[in-house]
Amino acid sequence: MRRLPALTVPYAALRARAGAAKDRVAALALHNIAIRRDSTGALRGFALSLWLTCTAVGAQGQTLDVLHWWTSAGERRAVEQLVLQLDKRGIAWRDAAIPGGGGGGAMKVLNSRVLARDPPDAAQVIGRTLADWSDLGLVLPLDEVAQRNRWSQSLFPLVQRVITHRGHIVAAPLGVHRINTLFFNQRVWAQLKLGAPKTWGDVEQAAAALRRAGIAPFAWSDEPWQIATVFETLLLSEGGPALYGELAATQRWQAWQDPRVAKALERLRWLRRLNGETAIEQRWTASARQLFTGDAGMLIMGDWVDGELVAWGAQAGRDYGCAPVPDTAGMHLYSIDTLAMLVGTKRREAEQERMAEVVVSPAAQLAYNQAKGSVPVRDDIDPAQLDECARDSWQTLKRDYSPLLPSIAHRMAADEATKDALADALHRFVKDPAITPARAQERLVALIRSAARTTPSP
Ligand code: GAL
Repeated sequence: MRRLPALTVPYAALRARAGAAKDRVAALALHNIAIRRDSTGALRGFALSLWLTCTAVGAQGQTLDVLHWWTSAGERRAVEQLVLQLDKRGIAWRDAAIPGGGGGGAMKVLNSRVLARDPPDAAQVIGRTLADWSDLGLVLPLDEVAQRNRWSQSLFPLVQRVITHRGHIVAAPLGVHRINTLFFNQRVWAQLKLGAPKTWGDVEQAAAALRRAGIAPFAWSDEPWQIATVFETLLLSEGGPALYGELAATQRWQAWQDPRVAKALERLRWLRRLNGETAIEQRWTASARQLFTGDAGMLIMGDWVDGELVAWGAQAGRDYGCAPVPDTAGMHLYSIDTLAMLVGTKRREAEQERMAEVVVSPAAQLAYNQAKGSVPVRDDIDPAQLDECARDSWQTLKRDYSPLLPSIAHRMAADEATKDALADALHRFVKDPAITPARAQERLVALIRSAARTTPSP
């Protein structure tokens, strides 16, 4: 494994050296993230030193530290866009990136920083976690910024709902990810003369053709959060939007007794077995890499994979295709990224509000989301500017009648502890063939039932 050197030159010095070239600004704030090549040749970002010494930008400038988990190539490109836009408004971004897909590690670090009374100025806090944190008084309300910038007129109503808690706006929305996405390698598809996979039958046929060609049908990882991500798309596929909606409203634990939950568990096992029994726990970027190189034909994952493939030089529609997971066409299983401004000891409210304003602005929204693979939180952009995966996602959000379903695995519907417990149970189920779908379902019911007892209604 060859390591590339980390960039540790202070921001101010680098900035001067770059002759204030704008495109450098973004790179500077982000390069506390070192890059290494792994054995598959994939570029992986991981934080080496979490803190980059930045100086204030401009006379009235101010540095805000931002905690998040965006360390892959596509995620870093997306953050670079925010850094550029913020720089124009005199705000420097000090990067506190905690590696780890799905943000499990980042949330632990965030908890301990808050307990140590050293909260970052802003952090990616999403969904139920956002609601819980604002109940604890840890989050700065952004009602005035939202009003001044007429967010309620430009945001998707869904987004507006997700950032509103007890009548207050509690975060700046960044982008909407679609979880029910099935990626396939378009070049392999052309070679094997396969049609876009629309049904589970198509998936099965494609898997057989891929195996004959010596290609793994799926890029798969047994990491618990990745299994949970795939599983919720299967719950939607097998259960339909009405049942999924009940499952996600975790107060109604009885819904988890539905026989379609067992069918989704069976489908999960079936899907994993399409690959044989060789599943390993790899990062989502390694799975995306397998799809990119054509070592694997398909991947079910949130559309942050789209941003990653673009960062590696691939193009939607030419190198890879996106289809809704079978039987979920026209539905949107969403996870919305949001930046919460944390209440700290440092009195940075004015800058935090400015940051919120900038990230929701049309320019930042388009640039950031084109790189991230998600879609703008605004419904007033031109969808022609999105690639075909993102366009389908945005148009699905835009249609009045689309079923919009919250991700359980990504905190939209369940709190941190519940989503982790579900992911662990699913992990045990796929790892141990002795656990039947019926037994696994009993376990899920028990978990949701006890969570419903201890969690107040949102
Ligand atoms: C999600 C997050 C995305 C993406 C993904 C992979 O939870 O919303 O922004 O980063 O995890 O880590």
